[in-house]
Amino acid sequence: MTDKPRVWISRPTFPGIVARLEPHFEVVAESEERAFNRSELAAKLAGQDAVIVGLKDRIGAAEIARAERLRIVANLAVGYDNIDLDALSAAGIAVSNTADVLNESVADFAWALMLGAARRLGAAERWLRAGHWQATEFKAWLGTDVGGCTLGILGMGRIGQAIARRAVGFGMPVLYHNRSQLPEAVELACHARHVDKAQLLRESDFLILTLPLTAQTRHAIGAAELALMKPSAMLVNVARGGIVDDAALVAALRERRLAGAALDVFEGEPALHPGLLQLDNAVLSPHIASASQGTRRAMTAVAVDNVLALFGHGPHAGKPPNILNPNVL
Ligand code: DGY
Repeated sequence: MTDKPRVWISRPTFPGIVARLEPHFEVVAESEERAFNRSELAAKLAGQDAVIVGLKDRIGAAEIARAERLRIVANLAVGYDNIDLDALSAAGIAVSNTADVLNESVADFAWALMLGAARRLGAAERWLRAGHWQATEFKAWLGTDVGGCTLGILGMGRIGQAIARRAVGFGMPVLYHNRSQLPEAVELACHARHVDKAQLLRESDFLILTLPLTAQTRHAIGAAELALMKPSAMLVNVARGGIVDDAALVAALRERRLAGAALDVFEGEPALHPGLLQLDNAVLSPHIASASQGTRRAMTAVAVDNVLALFGHGPHAGKPPNILNPNVL
């Protein structure tokens, strides 16, 4: 046993990460991906000075009850709905996220999902793999062109803005709704116009969700909101499960009150609403919008930077750059 502070990494990590921490910390890194239940997490956190955790690790008052030495929880995500920020702040524990480094990756993936839904890519591939392609039919697999269609973005943070910037190349006008309207210069850079939520729902041909999950945004898209959307419209969610009422969405897609959806996140994931699996007008992916080689490495590096910085080391020594509750510092 050394007298170095201790850090626990709850997920298998990239080469070089442990080596960055080891000069300053005693490091325990899990070698296998697994979900920890509440009491396992509480036991893992007890005795640690810092932890680097992922979205599956839900950390609140009960999990930190025995973590008397814990000074920082570095979350490997920009979203932090898995962390009870109030409870950790009350205990004086800093929480960091991985804002910014994933903006472009998630924006790329939102476009991949949107284009996949518009051109029916998933369903066409399943059909081909099932051996159904006997002849090329001129009128088969007709999709929707995105050019000239209106792109709506609900939640215009940095990811929403990265999505909007890409729309110029596709010739899509962009509408957005956000709690507060963006400065004019940002709107100009994004070629985006602020509208109220009802107008966004009514006018979007493709609506992409990039807002955080909070008590206020839970079921921000439910039956009433879906009813405002055009029957020809498609919904893309790269934000969080729970923002969409999945049961209401399944009903709208099944009854063709909405043309399509492309979803990377789900209520209660990895469990899915069973109706989603039966729908050919839904493109589904397993929460991988930020999962590129470069981005997942960059996210891990950000988490490590924050841990090092809090303990006075590394490029941001003394000034951890991504702290969500700076009042505890
Ligand atoms: C995030 O960073 O919040 C993503 O959803 C994780 O991939």
